Amino acid sequence: MSVPQRLVRSYVRRERPFKDNQKTDWERLWALYGISRDAWASAVGAQPAILDIGFGDGEALLGMASRDAEHTYIGVEMYRSGLLKVMRGAERERLSNVRVIEADAKEVVAALAAQSVAGVHLFFPDPWPKARHHKRRLVTESFIEALVRVLRPAGIIHMATDWPDYATQAAGHFAGCTALEPLDQDRNGRPETRFERRGWRLGHVSFDLRYRRTG
Ligand SMILES: C[S@@+](CC[C@H](N)C(=O)[O-])C[C@H]1O[C@@H](n2cnc3c(N)ncnc32)[C@H](O)[C@@H]1O
Repeated sequence: MSVPQRLVRSYVRRERPFKDNQKTDWERLWALYGISRDAWASAVGAQPAILDIGFGDGEALLGMASRDAEHTYIGVEMYRSGLLKVMRGAERERLSNVRVIEADAKEVVAALAAQSVAGVHLFFPDPWPKARHHKRRLVTESFIEALVRVLRPAGIIHMATDWPDYATQAAGHFAGCTALEPLDQDRNGRPETRFERRGWRLGHVSFDLRYRRTG
């Protein structure tokens, strides 16, 4: 029996409940950095925003936000420990250009206004390597179309993966989207991520895919 598309999730939630100190930090920091569901549609303010989808532990997000004060970095994650790490890091590094959303990125992107974001980062989305799980991969034709809707003209999508078949599959989807033109397929200053280093230890190679919205 086929699974209805809306029930196919790109993530699995397996987390321990927070300890008391984590709960206290979460409540305090969420008030500073969190964007709740009723504010998603207006999440992008006057300063151009980059969406970092599935930021994990947030090394890339914090690294890029700390050297690029011209953009607000809006991280979208389902993984609460990662959300808390990023909020703690933003406070530690006194970053005023970081915000986070705890939700499925598909829902968030659907709620954002058209042409509202300057860039999208998709660094090492879960590879779902088994063929029977490929339907769970986040980067599909329809998700790319949803991203293109929210990208400003000249806005950039940057994906990285260390699964060659995911890179090939995604490159095919990007190439099929007439509103995108390819850029140099390099890391363009992208910081290393935890997931990336794990792949390197297994002998993997990273692929960067970058595209610009035309028009
Ligand atoms: C393989 S990890 C990579 C994390 C990080 N970008 C890195 O490179 O270390 C993928 C992350 O994407 C998150 N994720 C998967 N599907 C998501 C979705 N639909 N919305 C938001 N986050 C998602 C997962 O919770 C996980 O933390």
